[in-house]
Amino acid sequence: MTIEKPVELVLLLGSLRSGSFHRALAKALPDLAPAGVTITLLGCVGDIPHYNADVQAQGFPDTVNTMAGAIAAADGVIVVTPEYNYSVPGVLKNALDWLSRLPTTPFAGKPVSIMSGSPGPIAGARAQYHLRQIMVFLDAIVFTKPEVMVGGINTKVDVEAGTVTDEATRKFIGDHLQAFVQFVARLSPKS
Ligand code: FNR
Repeated sequence: MTIEKPVELVLLLGSLRSGSFHRALAKALPDLAPAGVTITLLGCVGDIPHYNADVQAQGFPDTVNTMAGAIAAADGVIVVTPEYNYSVPGVLKNALDWLSRLPTTPFAGKPVSIMSGSPGPIAGARAQYHLRQIMVFLDAIVFTKPEVMVGGINTKVDVEAGTVTDEATRKFIGDHLQAFVQFVARLSPKS
C-alpha cells in the first residue's frame, strides 16, 4: 500500500513492565505499518502523578502537557494495552483522566486505534471495550475493525528483539494498520 501523504501516529502504552509483551508489540509496529507512516512512543504513563484536582489547580504536570501536545500534533493515536481485571490498567486510566481535564482534550476528533493482548485466550477484549467507553467522553473517534486482540501474546512476540514472531499475528496487525491509516486519511485529509 502506498499512502499519499506522510502519516504521523503516536503510541500510548498501558504497561510499565520492562519485559512487557505489549511493549514488544508496540516496538514491532513501525515494521508492520505501511511505508510513510511514523509511530512515536509517547511518554511513560507511569511518570504521570495520580490525578488530583488540587494538583491540577496548581497547574497541569509537565508530563501531561507534553503528552497532550504530542497527541494534538499527531494524525492519530494507537493505544496498546494489557487488560487488568477485565478493564484498562489504572496507570493508563490515570493518564486519560488527566488528559480529559485539559481545557481542550487532545483526543477530541482524534482517530484512535486500540490493540490489546493477553497470555490468555480473551486477548484483552474486555479492556478494549472499556477503553472505547472511556474514549466516548474524550470525544475520540475510535477505529473499529479489523480488531487487534492477541491471545497467547507471550508466545507471539520476542521481548528482547521487540518483534512479533507469529506470522498470522503480523498479518492481522498489518491489515489493521493499513485500514487505520486509511481511516485517518478520511477523517483528516491534509491539504
Ligand atoms: C492481569 N492479567 C489479566 N489478563 C487478562 O487476560 N485479563 C485480566 O483481566 C487480567 N487481569 C490482570 C490483572 C493484573 C493486576 C495483572 C498484573 C495481570 C494478566 C496480564 O494479561 C499479563 O500479566 C500480561 O502479560 C500483562 O501485559 P504486559 O505487562 O506483559 O504487557
